[in-house]
Formats: sequence, structure tokens, C-alpha cells
Amino acid sequence: MKKTENCKLIRKTEIAKGIFDFTIASEDIAAYAQCGQFLHINCGDSTFLRRPISICDAENGEVRFIFEAKGEGTRELAKKEVGDFVDIMGPLGHGFEISDSVKKPVIIGGGIGVFPLYKLAKQLKTANVFLGFRSADRVVMEKEFEMTANTVIVGTDDGSYGYNGYIASAMEQYLNFHECDMIYSCGPMPMLKAVKNIAEQRGIKCQLSLEQRMGCGIGACLVCSCETHKSGADKYAKVCTNGPVFYSEEVTLND
Ligand code: FES
Repeated sequence: MKKTENCKLIRKTEIAKGIFDFTIASEDIAAYAQCGQFLHINCGDSTFLRRPISICDAENGEVRFIFEAKGEGTRELAKKEVGDFVDIMGPLGHGFEISDSVKKPVIIGGGIGVFPLYKLAKQLKTANVFLGFRSADRVVMEKEFEMTANTVIVGTDDGSYGYNGYIASAMEQYLNFHECDMIYSCGPMPMLKAVKNIAEQRGIKCQLSLEQRMGCGIGACLVCSCETHKSGADKYAKVCTNGPVFYSEEVTLND
């Protein structure tokens, strides 16, 4: 859905240093948003390009998205206050595929990649969830995932909270003793590569949400191309329209 709408900001919280949790009002986006889709947001007058930000949750006429204010655009967006309006295009992209035939799902997210997985966890209800962060002060949404998932394991790279080490390793250890018939993942590229390898070694289907720089967000500019395993004209896919979610066997993950 390529509609653009001015949406009122109705809640704003800084949930960790520089991480902003926004809820906007939009009946249309809330009605059409699917897990893993994104919004293309005009961050303010000082930035020309829109920024893609994943949908964290959407229901009852409200849409929630969480972002890190680290570039010019997102820092500008973070200055918005409750009552201001945000120019939003969306929901966009191809999100996670959900099937009733999946009985033992695992969700794994890293850093700001945990946010697009929340609506998915709510919808799946029985997922076993792995959330990885750099350090204890970056841990967010643990309680919310616990309210909706079967189990939640939180880890930190520096060992300051929860599992000590990379969260993909925690998932790998879990898979040594538990069945899984689908892995859903979003996060930094090294984590996605590890998840893809682990899934493919074990023959587990795996859906990956790719983070990519974007321009138009609607398939027109090719800024967001990613490499696939196909050849010829299909060698490259557009993350904004073919993704951001792909099956692991479809894409080549480059740094
Ligand atoms: Fe323009 Fe994907 S962002 S084609």
C-alpha cells in the first residue's frame, strides 16, 4: 500500500539512550500492516530522503515503531513531540510469511532488529524468542516479549546481562536439544549470516528481514538491491518491494 498520510504522534518514550518508541494514529496503516513490513517516513524539513523504519506493532488504529536516533534524519524525527504530525508512507514491503503448519517457531533478533519481531511474536503466540544486545543498558522489550512468547532468552555480547555471548550461539545451543520448523530473524548482518548458516546446516527453513539503505521505498530507484542466488535478470532483488523479508536460501548476505 503506497499511501502517504500525515499521522498524529500520540505516544513517545525514550526506552533506552537514543532509542525512541513512537505510536502514531492511523486506522489505515493499522488495518493493513503485516508483520515485518516497514514505514517510509519523512523525518522533517532538514532531510530530503524518507527513512525506512520497521513496524513494531499495529492494532486498534494505532501503529508503533521504534528507532535509534543516530543519523541526521532519525535525530530530526526524534525531536517530534506528542501532538505533532509525521508524514508516513506505508505499510510497505513483503513481510514475514506465517503458516499454521509451523508448530515450533524460533524468533531471533539483535539490537534494533528486535523491534520488527514483536508483532510477529504476538501473532505466533508460541515462539521461542532469542534477543541479543551489545550490553545491559541496551536491553529493551524483554518483558513485552515475555508476555507474548513461549520462552525468551536475552543475551549480551559483553555478558553484562543474560546469556554471555552472541545470541546466535545461544540459539544454536537451544537447537541441539529442541525441535524447530521455522526461524524468523532480523538484526545486524553478522548475526543474520550466523543464523542463516545454522538454519541451513540443520535444514530448518528460515526467514530473514534485511536492513538496507533505501531511496524511494517503492521499487523505483534500485538503491536497495541485494544479491540473490538466481542468475540473469533475477540476480538482484529489491529489499523494499521483494523484501525486506526473504527466505535464507533466496539471498546472498554480503557485508
Ligand atoms: Fe528504491 Fe528499493 S528503495 S528501489
